[in-house]
Amino acid sequence: MNIRVFRTPSDAGIYAASILERVVTSKERPVLGLATGGTVIPVYEAFVNLVRCGLDVSHVTTLNLDEYIGLAPDHPQSYHAFMNEHLFSKVGIPVESTHLPNGIASDLRAECERYNAVIRKNPIDIQILGIGVNGHIGFNEPSHTLITGTHVVNLSAETIKMNARFFQNEEEVPRQAITMGVQSILQAKQIILLAFGAQKAEIIREALNDGIRTDVPASILQLHKDVTVILDEQSARHLDL
Ligand code: F6R
Repeated sequence: MNIRVFRTPSDAGIYAASILERVVTSKERPVLGLATGGTVIPVYEAFVNLVRCGLDVSHVTTLNLDEYIGLAPDHPQSYHAFMNEHLFSKVGIPVESTHLPNGIASDLRAECERYNAVIRKNPIDIQILGIGVNGHIGFNEPSHTLITGTHVVNLSAETIKMNARFFQNEEEVPRQAITMGVQSILQAKQIILLAFGAQKAEIIREALNDGIRTDVPASILQLHKDVTVILDEQSARHLDL
């Protein structure tokens, strides 16, 4: 794995956005796999700046990793709303080329199949990932088994607690989500894993340095041949570099 350590999340975001730019300018029909959460905000800020400086994204397709079950796309805490706020409303990606799972689908099994078909039709050139403090990627939570395709997941108590900062209180955090599975993530041609802050330092060490363990889902990225890990000094502090 290629590990890059930056002084600040903002510096790291500029580097990650420059990798995205390379994909966007080198492919005829680039497909970006996107994430939500605090970590990716500096990446989208830097990417929006590149677009403002002339980067054309009209030919880009995006696929997000996950969405909360029960939140409509216009719910302020939905991942649809997050993407609109931080990226889609600021750049010219055609709305029909942006894809997220539908958290209010009446038939969730059919929705997972629909999303798997979207992923099959749009092979991901580069997937951006954050990491949960428990090692989750997307919402593939620590478990005895990791699921390959898109599925419904019960969020762990730890994830609910961590994500409560985006809601009024912990009670409001949805208990379930739809997430892309680990095989879909591993099939991306290139992966960027980002982590910032001291609270991610230990899980980054476990994910990168220990063996592959289903109770640290991000460790499965060790199987992929093109992963760039982008850290700040705090999240890298338990690594021997
Ligand atoms: C969100 C996602 C999650 C987050 C992770 C880290 O789409 O897939 O895996 O990347 O929970 O969240 P932050 O960045 O808020 O610490």
